Amino acid sequence: MNIKNVALVTGASSGIGEALSRELIARGWSVIGIARSLDKLSQIQKELGNAFTPIVCDVSNSEDIKIASTKILDRGICPSHFFLNAGLAGEKVIENPNSFDVTMHEKIMAVNYFGVLRWLQYWEKPCQENGGANFIVTSSMNAIFAPPTGSAYSASKAAISKAFESLSLTYFEKNLKFSVVYAGPVATEGLKGNVPFIWKPEKMAKYMVDCASKGKVHCEPSLFYSIVTRFLNKMPYSWTMKLLNKLG
Ligand SMILES: NC(=O)c1ccc[n+]([C@@H]2O[C@H](COP(=O)([O-])OP(=O)(O)OC[C@H]3O[C@@H](n4cnc5c(N)ncnc54)[C@H](OP(=O)(O)O)[C@@H]3O)[C@@H](O)[C@H]2O)c1
Repeated sequence: MNIKNVALVTGASSGIGEALSRELIARGWSVIGIARSLDKLSQIQKELGNAFTPIVCDVSNSEDIKIASTKILDRGICPSHFFLNAGLAGEKVIENPNSFDVTMHEKIMAVNYFGVLRWLQYWEKPCQENGGANFIVTSSMNAIFAPPTGSAYSASKAAISKAFESLSLTYFEKNLKFSVVYAGPVATEGLKGNVPFIWKPEKMAKYMVDCASKGKVHCEPSLFYSIVTRFLNKMPYSWTMKLLNKLG
């Protein structure tokens, strides 16, 4: 099986995932791009050519992941890198402060948590038999500091980050590696709020590919947000709320 230089990228139809696909292809990789929007994936394939293979798949649906994975294996391909980046984010994950609804948690966990781990369940054995693989998840600084109206999103990112930390130790002696990228704000549809030090998706993509190639487990791209989130966690909540209200 071909295990070298093939990466699978989820959420490849826009934002960070699209930028990751472009970055990987520029570095000589082939990319299997996963998302729900066939039209967006097809448009990207038109630009990137045969190095980009689009597969339509809803990562919240385990059957979809199984069908997509079987399709890839049937072509004799076993990716060596899995950028598990698809996520519900941005305006879609802002909660109503006057009416708590647990279905928001269920929807977000289905994509941001189970929609990541199901890839591992399917690919664990094929990857181990084919020399190993790196699994890289796009987490968020919201896994460190959970802002108001973001309980489901923050919990999903904290949960997947902790799962990956544990998996790094579980598979320490084996050939599966796990990286967590705690992204700060990036200029995509998935960005919410008016915040400083926003990265371009291209810069984040470069950072993530470098991080994956070094096999780093814990990656925090933004020193500013690394400091600010720890600081916000330590401040009295009255100060935290004042600061957040100023930022809008
Ligand atoms: N932007 C930021 O500031 C920021 C900060 C920290 C972390 N992140 C994380 O970065 C990741 C990428 O987000 P982004 O900022 O690039 O936002 P985006 O442009 O909205 O991209 C989200 C991607 O996920 C895909 N997706 C969503 N639900 C899916 C599903 N059920 N099945 C398959 N694909 C699905 C979307 O494709 P389809 O709609 O075509 O399916 C899209 O390609 C997310 O995990 C997000 O939480 C973003």
